[in-house]
Amino acid sequence: MTQTVLTWHGHACFEIQNEKRILIDPFITGNPKTDLTKENVKADLVVVTHGHSDHLGDAVEIALGNGVPIVTMVELAWALKKEFKDLLVEGINLSGGVTVSGVKVRSVIAVHSSSYKDQYVGSPMGVVIGDGFKIYHAGDTGVFRDMELIREVHHPNLSILPIGGYYTMSPAEAQFAVSMLKSEYVVPMHYGTFPLISGNPEEFKELVDKTGVSRTIIAKVGVPIVFGSDGKLLE
Ligand code: NI
Ligand code: MN
Repeated sequence: MTQTVLTWHGHACFEIQNEKRILIDPFITGNPKTDLTKENVKADLVVVTHGHSDHLGDAVEIALGNGVPIVTMVELAWALKKEFKDLLVEGINLSGGVTVSGVKVRSVIAVHSSSYKDQYVGSPMGVVIGDGFKIYHAGDTGVFRDMELIREVHHPNLSILPIGGYYTMSPAEAQFAVSMLKSEYVVPMHYGTFPLISGNPEEFKELVDKTGVSRTIIAKVGVPIVFGSDGKLLE
Protein backbone atom coordinates (compact mmCIF):
# COMPACT_ATOMS: atom_id res chain seq x y z
CA MET A 1 0.00 0.00 0.00
CA THR A 2 1.20 3.49 -0.73
CA GLN A 3 0.64 6.61 1.29
CA THR A 4 -2.82 8.14 0.88
CA VAL A 5 -3.51 11.84 1.22
CA LEU A 6 -7.10 12.96 1.69
CA THR A 7 -8.01 16.63 1.35
CA TRP A 8 -11.41 18.21 1.88
CA HIS A 9 -12.27 21.02 -0.51
CA GLY A 10 -15.55 21.95 1.13
CA HIS A 11 -19.07 20.43 1.02
CA ALA A 12 -18.80 16.92 -0.52
CA CYS A 13 -15.65 17.62 -2.53
CA PHE A 14 -12.65 15.49 -1.62
CA GLU A 15 -9.37 14.76 -3.28
CA ILE A 16 -7.65 11.43 -2.78
CA GLN A 17 -4.02 11.34 -3.72
CA ASN A 18 -2.00 8.16 -3.89
CA GLU A 19 -0.21 7.32 -7.14
CA LYS A 20 -3.12 9.14 -8.77
CA ARG A 21 -5.18 12.18 -8.02
CA ILE A 22 -8.88 11.44 -7.70
CA LEU A 23 -11.38 14.24 -7.33
CA ILE A 24 -14.86 13.50 -5.96
CA ASP A 25 -17.90 15.77 -6.35
CA PRO A 26 -15.99 18.91 -7.41
CA PHE A 27 -18.45 21.66 -6.47
CA ILE A 28 -16.30 24.77 -6.80
CA THR A 29 -18.30 27.49 -8.55
CA GLY A 30 -20.83 28.75 -6.01
CA ASN A 31 -19.29 26.85 -3.09
CA PRO A 32 -18.64 29.41 -0.37
CA LYS A 33 -16.42 26.99 1.58
CA THR A 34 -14.00 25.71 -1.03
CA ASP A 35 -10.31 26.55 -1.32
CA LEU A 36 -10.15 25.58 -5.00
CA THR A 37 -10.50 27.55 -8.17
CA LYS A 38 -11.56 25.40 -11.10
CA GLU A 39 -8.78 26.68 -13.36
CA ASN A 40 -5.97 25.17 -11.31
CA VAL A 41 -7.50 21.80 -10.46
CA LYS A 42 -5.49 18.75 -11.53
CA ALA A 43 -7.04 15.31 -11.60
CA ASP A 44 -6.43 11.88 -13.12
CA LEU A 45 -10.03 10.92 -12.51
CA VAL A 46 -13.24 12.71 -11.54
CA VAL A 47 -15.91 10.80 -9.64
CA VAL A 48 -19.45 12.17 -9.32
CA THR A 49 -21.96 10.56 -6.93
CA HIS A 50 -25.09 12.11 -8.44
CA GLY A 51 -26.41 14.88 -10.65
CA HIS A 52 -27.29 17.55 -8.09
CA SER A 53 -25.39 20.73 -8.81
CA ASP A 54 -23.60 20.73 -5.45
CA HIS A 55 -21.97 17.41 -6.50
CA LEU A 56 -21.65 17.50 -10.28
CA GLY A 57 -20.40 21.03 -9.81
CA ASP A 58 -17.51 21.83 -12.17
CA ALA A 59 -16.82 18.18 -13.00
CA VAL A 60 -17.34 18.56 -16.76
CA GLU A 61 -14.99 21.50 -17.11
CA ILE A 62 -12.34 19.85 -14.94
CA ALA A 63 -12.57 16.52 -16.79
CA LEU A 64 -12.37 18.23 -20.18
CA GLY A 65 -9.53 20.47 -19.07
CA ASN A 66 -7.47 17.56 -17.77
CA GLY A 67 -8.52 15.16 -20.54
CA VAL A 68 -9.70 12.61 -17.96
CA PRO A 69 -12.96 10.70 -17.55
CA ILE A 70 -15.88 11.23 -15.21
CA VAL A 71 -17.00 8.09 -13.42
CA THR A 72 -20.67 8.30 -12.48
CA MET A 73 -24.06 6.61 -12.71
CA VAL A 74 -24.78 5.46 -16.24
CA GLU A 75 -27.86 7.66 -16.92
CA LEU A 76 -26.02 10.78 -15.81
CA ALA A 77 -23.00 9.71 -17.89
CA TRP A 78 -25.24 9.40 -20.96
CA ALA A 79 -26.85 12.78 -20.35
CA LEU A 80 -23.45 14.46 -20.04
CA LYS A 81 -21.99 12.66 -23.04
CA LYS A 82 -24.94 13.75 -25.18
CA GLU A 83 -24.29 17.38 -24.28
CA PHE A 84 -20.48 17.35 -24.24
CA LYS A 85 -19.25 15.21 -27.15
CA ASP A 86 -15.58 15.34 -26.16
CA LEU A 87 -16.22 14.31 -22.60
CA LEU A 88 -14.85 10.94 -21.49
CA VAL A 89 -17.31 9.07 -19.29
CA GLU A 90 -17.46 5.76 -17.46
CA GLY A 91 -21.11 5.09 -16.72
CA ILE A 92 -21.33 2.49 -13.99
CA ASN A 93 -24.26 1.17 -11.98
CA LEU A 94 -24.96 0.01 -8.44
CA SER A 95 -22.70 -2.77 -7.15
CA GLY A 96 -20.69 -2.43 -10.30
CA GLY A 97 -17.56 -0.51 -10.82
CA VAL A 98 -14.62 0.21 -13.01
CA THR A 99 -10.87 0.53 -12.82
CA VAL A 100 -9.67 3.70 -14.53
CA SER A 101 -6.00 4.69 -14.69
CA GLY A 102 -5.37 1.94 -12.16
CA VAL A 103 -7.91 3.38 -9.71
CA LYS A 104 -10.63 1.03 -8.56
CA VAL A 105 -14.06 2.65 -8.13
CA ARG A 106 -16.99 0.59 -6.83
CA SER A 107 -20.54 1.85 -6.73
CA VAL A 108 -22.80 1.30 -3.72
CA ILE A 109 -26.33 2.44 -3.01
CA ALA A 110 -27.24 5.83 -1.62
CA VAL A 111 -30.71 6.62 -0.34
CA HIS A 112 -31.33 9.95 -2.02
CA SER A 113 -32.33 11.20 -5.51
CA SER A 114 -30.46 12.36 -8.58
CA SER A 115 -31.38 14.92 -11.20
CA TYR A 116 -29.69 17.00 -13.85
CA LYS A 117 -31.38 19.99 -15.48
CA ASP A 118 -34.69 19.08 -13.82
CA GLN A 119 -34.67 15.51 -15.17
CA TYR A 120 -34.19 12.39 -13.11
CA VAL A 121 -30.91 10.78 -14.12
CA GLY A 122 -30.88 7.34 -12.56
CA SER A 123 -30.04 6.55 -9.01
CA PRO A 124 -27.55 8.38 -6.84
CA MET A 125 -24.65 6.36 -5.53
CA GLY A 126 -21.93 6.14 -2.96
CA VAL A 127 -18.46 5.01 -4.00
CA VAL A 128 -15.71 2.89 -2.54
CA ILE A 129 -12.38 3.97 -3.96
CA GLY A 130 -9.07 2.18 -3.79
CA ASP A 131 -7.76 -1.30 -3.38
CA GLY A 132 -5.41 -1.18 -0.40
CA PHE A 133 -6.57 1.76 1.64
CA LYS A 134 -10.27 1.94 0.82
CA ILE A 135 -12.29 5.10 1.17
CA TYR A 136 -16.09 5.06 1.17
CA HIS A 137 -17.60 8.38 0.07
CA ALA A 138 -21.30 8.04 0.84
CA GLY A 139 -22.47 10.86 -1.44
CA ASP A 140 -25.75 12.32 -0.26
CA THR A 141 -27.65 9.70 1.66
CA GLY A 142 -29.90 8.86 4.53
CA VAL A 143 -28.90 6.06 6.83
CA PHE A 144 -29.80 2.56 5.59
CA ARG A 145 -29.32 -0.92 6.99
CA ASP A 146 -27.31 -2.16 4.00
CA MET A 147 -24.37 -0.10 5.23
CA GLU A 148 -23.67 -3.37 7.06
CA LEU A 149 -23.33 -4.97 3.65
CA ILE A 150 -20.96 -2.25 2.51
CA ARG A 151 -18.78 -3.18 5.48
CA GLU A 152 -19.01 -6.91 4.73
CA VAL A 153 -18.25 -6.54 1.04
CA HIS A 154 -15.76 -3.67 0.99
CA HIS A 155 -14.35 -3.14 4.50
CA PRO A 156 -13.62 0.56 4.00
CA ASN A 157 -10.74 1.85 6.12
CA LEU A 158 -12.29 5.30 6.12
CA SER A 159 -15.86 6.49 5.62
CA ILE A 160 -16.84 9.98 4.54
CA LEU A 161 -20.40 10.65 5.68
CA PRO A 162 -22.83 13.56 5.25
CA ILE A 163 -24.02 14.99 8.57
CA GLY A 164 -25.66 18.28 7.61
CA GLY A 165 -29.28 17.15 7.89
CA TYR A 166 -32.14 18.52 5.77
CA TYR A 167 -31.02 16.70 2.57
CA THR A 168 -29.07 13.91 4.25
CA MET A 169 -28.32 12.29 7.57
CA SER A 170 -27.75 14.53 10.55
CA PRO A 171 -25.21 13.63 13.25
CA ALA A 172 -27.81 11.56 15.11
CA GLU A 173 -28.44 9.28 12.10
CA ALA A 174 -24.83 9.32 10.94
CA GLN A 175 -23.87 7.80 14.26
CA PHE A 176 -25.88 4.70 13.28
CA ALA A 177 -24.10 4.64 9.94
CA VAL A 178 -20.76 4.63 11.74
CA SER A 179 -21.85 1.72 13.92
CA MET A 180 -22.73 -0.33 10.85
CA LEU A 181 -19.70 0.56 8.76
CA LYS A 182 -17.15 0.06 11.53
CA SER A 183 -14.40 1.68 9.50
CA GLU A 184 -11.33 2.73 11.43
CA TYR A 185 -11.78 6.40 10.54
CA VAL A 186 -14.78 8.58 9.74
CA VAL A 187 -14.81 12.05 8.24
CA PRO A 188 -17.97 14.21 8.31
CA MET A 189 -18.97 16.25 5.24
CA HIS A 190 -21.91 18.10 3.67
CA TYR A 191 -22.46 20.46 6.59
CA GLY A 192 -22.06 24.19 7.15
CA THR A 193 -21.88 25.11 3.48
CA PHE A 194 -25.27 26.78 3.65
CA PRO A 195 -27.46 27.61 6.69
CA LEU A 196 -29.89 24.78 5.87
CA ILE A 197 -27.32 22.06 6.47
CA SER A 198 -26.51 22.87 10.05
CA GLY A 199 -25.28 19.50 11.40
CA ASN A 200 -22.44 20.06 13.86
CA PRO A 201 -19.24 18.01 13.40
CA GLU A 202 -18.33 18.31 17.10
CA GLU A 203 -21.71 16.82 18.02
CA PHE A 204 -21.09 14.03 15.50
CA LYS A 205 -17.65 13.36 16.96
CA GLU A 206 -19.05 13.20 20.49
CA LEU A 207 -21.70 10.68 19.45
CA VAL A 208 -19.15 8.55 17.61
CA ASP A 209 -16.66 8.75 20.51
CA LYS A 210 -19.35 7.34 22.83
CA THR A 211 -19.72 4.27 20.62
CA GLY A 212 -15.96 3.70 20.48
CA VAL A 213 -16.39 2.18 17.01
CA SER A 214 -14.46 4.64 14.83
CA ARG A 215 -12.16 7.56 15.16
CA THR A 216 -13.60 10.83 13.85
CA ILE A 217 -11.35 13.13 11.90
CA ILE A 218 -12.87 16.58 11.45
CA ALA A 219 -11.26 17.72 8.23
CA LYS A 220 -10.26 21.32 7.67
CA VAL A 221 -10.72 22.66 4.16
CA GLY A 222 -7.48 22.49 2.19
CA VAL A 223 -5.49 20.77 4.94
CA PRO A 224 -4.20 17.34 3.84
CA ILE A 225 -4.85 14.30 6.03
CA VAL A 226 -2.09 11.75 5.51
CA PHE A 227 -2.29 7.99 5.97
CA GLY A 228 0.90 5.96 5.90
CA SER A 229 1.54 2.82 3.89
CA ASP A 230 0.24 0.87 6.92
CA GLY A 231 -3.13 2.66 6.59
CA LYS A 232 -2.65 4.55 9.85
CA LEU A 233 -3.12 8.27 10.27
CA LEU A 234 0.22 10.08 10.37
CA GLU A 235 0.21 12.58 13.22
NI1 NI B 1 -28.03 15.65 -3.52
MN1 MN C 1 -25.86 17.51 -1.79
